[in-house]
Amino acid sequence: MITASSVADALDSSSKHGLAAGAVPERSDWTIDQGWEAYTAEEHGVWKTLFERQSQLLPGRACKEFVAGMQQLPMRADEIPDFRRLSEVLMQHTGWQIVAVPGLVPDDVFFDHLANRRFPAGQFIRKPHELDYLEEPDVFHDVFGHVPMLMNPAIADFIQAYGQGGMRAKELGVLDKLARVYWYTVEFGLVQEEGELRIYGAGIASSRTETVFALDDASPNRIRFDLERVMRTQYRIDDFQESYFVIRDLNELLELAQIDFAPLYQRIACQSDLQPGDVLAQDRLFTRGSGSYHLAVER
Ligand SMILES: [Fe+2]
Repeated sequence: MITASSVADALDSSSKHGLAAGAVPERSDWTIDQGWEAYTAEEHGVWKTLFERQSQLLPGRACKEFVAGMQQLPMRADEIPDFRRLSEVLMQHTGWQIVAVPGLVPDDVFFDHLANRRFPAGQFIRKPHELDYLEEPDVFHDVFGHVPMLMNPAIADFIQAYGQGGMRAKELGVLDKLARVYWYTVEFGLVQEEGELRIYGAGIASSRTETVFALDDASPNRIRFDLERVMRTQYRIDDFQESYFVIRDLNELLELAQIDFAPLYQRIACQSDLQPGDVLAQDRLFTRGSGSYHLAVER
């Protein structure tokens, strides 16, 4: 799940789910029943195709916490997971649960769920012809990508703190700054592991093409994570990222969760935003990207 404001503007009128479709929720928290029994064989088949593809790609690319979380969850190739069963296991480990939503939800609803350790997951799954292109987060992105990491105590606390901080950021008019932190960590983060880079971001882990691009391609920058730098950095919502930010280990997220962001918002208020592909003199680079991919796309 990503926030509505980060996506809604990028969607056209053909979008079909949740807030982006102009939906009016029956419940104020936007939750719906997952309706697990109603998934069709075709829908379970799409899950299986995606699950098997990523399961082949991720060994040696996903961080060890992702792999461990996956192994402990009732999640397998054959069927879309039942959120009730996932929540039972998650609750025991980190006190989180998964709630079904129809698609994108308003920011305040999203933050309230996270602040209360409820992860809103899209109930629907993409169509067979949409395997590699997705406008909105579906059950595969939200569950396969995010839930294994929610088994980790550091990520579990960090995402809760993000929910708490989200409402404050909204009131201060700096939600765009905070949303970039979530984007470049929870969604598209890389982490150091035994001298190599590994994936922990759900947007990468749930995407076959970005799994390879983020780690193996010469095009993107891979930059040591710096909080203020990330807050100033715009991101791409419609294509691979031009820059990925690398944390030392997952405990770095716990440290971030303890920081009072208010002085940072003030400090960067008078600084200009950075473009997604910018490299600064003070950046600590793992890789200086060639930029070739996005140059070719924009030509
Ligand atoms: Fe997400």
